[in-house]
Amino acid sequence: MRKVFVKTYGCQMNVYDSARMTDLLAPLGYGTTDRAEDADMVILNTCHIREKAAEKVYSELGKLRRLKEARARSGGSLMIAVAGCVAQAEGREIVARQPAVDIVVGPQSYHRLPELIARIARGAGHALETDFPAEEKFDALPDEGMSAAPAAFLTVQEGCDKFCTFCVVPYTRGAEYSRPVTQLVQEAERVVRAGAREITLLGQNVNAYRGQGPDGEAWSLARLMEALSGIEGLARLRYTTSHPRDMSDDLIAAHRDLDKLMPYLHLPVQSGSDRVLEAMNRQHKADHYLRLVERIRAARADIALSSDFIVGFPGESDADFDATVALIRRVGYAQSFSFKYSARPGTPAAAARQIPDDVKDARLQALQGLLGAQQDAFNASCAGKVMAVLFEKPGRQAAQAVGRSPYLQPVHVDGAAGLIGRIADVRIEAVMSNSLKGAFVHQREKAHLN
Ligand code: 5AD
Ligand code: SF4
Repeated sequence: MRKVFVKTYGCQMNVYDSARMTDLLAPLGYGTTDRAEDADMVILNTCHIREKAAEKVYSELGKLRRLKEARARSGGSLMIAVAGCVAQAEGREIVARQPAVDIVVGPQSYHRLPELIARIARGAGHALETDFPAEEKFDALPDEGMSAAPAAFLTVQEGCDKFCTFCVVPYTRGAEYSRPVTQLVQEAERVVRAGAREITLLGQNVNAYRGQGPDGEAWSLARLMEALSGIEGLARLRYTTSHPRDMSDDLIAAHRDLDKLMPYLHLPVQSGSDRVLEAMNRQHKADHYLRLVERIRAARADIALSSDFIVGFPGESDADFDATVALIRRVGYAQSFSFKYSARPGTPAAAARQIPDDVKDARLQALQGLLGAQQDAFNASCAGKVMAVLFEKPGRQAAQAVGRSPYLQPVHVDGAAGLIGRIADVRIEAVMSNSLKGAFVHQREKAHLN
């Protein structure tokens, strides 16, 4: 049997795409491996969001080239493919920079992989495929593999029409496209039958979801989740990533009304300064965001919030940065991601005068100190509580299992290895910086309990 190694960078949408690429190659006789040394084909599923992410790909390609050359000397071969957003954004340049690459395939065209592989096998040089429409891809993909992880991903929406001035996504992933409701319900039913207990609905702008419903109307994300809630055996739903502008009333209400919807929301704000938000083309002000948070907490009091922040966006003054700090203090986040602004070629903000790197570093450090303290405080508040944990995988220690709390915290429990794929009540006994340690209380019987 031939083997493929898919290495995934970046966001959860790439994790989903990587799984679908693996499904796509199975009928061609490819099993999977997680070592390039054992693989006949390596696919790098890449991320272009910040410069660092894109540069990692080229250094990995350098290593793969040496492996490919060694393979050729011993009479073997190695096929190298670059997929994902670097493939989309840089296309032909990738082959120019690293001629060992055989295939370049964009996120909207990876359903054509079998054809591209056949072309390479026939010795037809490099194959490049970065065409758009997303519709075709989802129709062309085969059904998912037979076994699903306890916590699975499902891409419901792709692309973005927001054009934040720092972001490459509208260029690499294209215009917004929402998959039809019936297709998604069927895919969700299949992954639940294959063992998933939790599904995270994915989209670059997931709460802008407007998919065609069985009644011919455009359904919102809230309506889609209500339909998915009816799937027996599915215990938990999540969705990510959302834009504040698309946090509609019915979606806020869903956090009150849908038992299966977990009390965690990733709602990036990027900055707390109206001036910077305007320059970022975020289409909302800080106050709008704060009011949203109030309304979401009124719907679901215990909701844990997370956000993304960018420091050192062009023009960001000390006062602008202080406004971000003030917003963070007002909200109180359970978790957050923060980044130094990275100028991306082709995006509007890349042409503006840049903030010096030492200023960015200092701001990032200050922000991460504050966000880390908030995360610690949130985790500490969980000590002694009993939480429903969905066990996902074995832990580092023997007989240990790791799962997730409703608030997405990793929870380690000794002696729980037999509970993988199940939801159990766990008493939180110790709090670490990025995870919790708990003791098994009892297993939940009913599938609908979260
Ligand atoms: N520089 C730094 N961070 C960025 N992000 C997106 N584009 C950039 C950029 N050019 C961050 C945003 C986004 C997250 C996925 O990555 O915070 O929400
Ligand atoms: Fe990028 Fe803004 Fe679209 Fe998010 S909403 S994907 S940050 S352009």
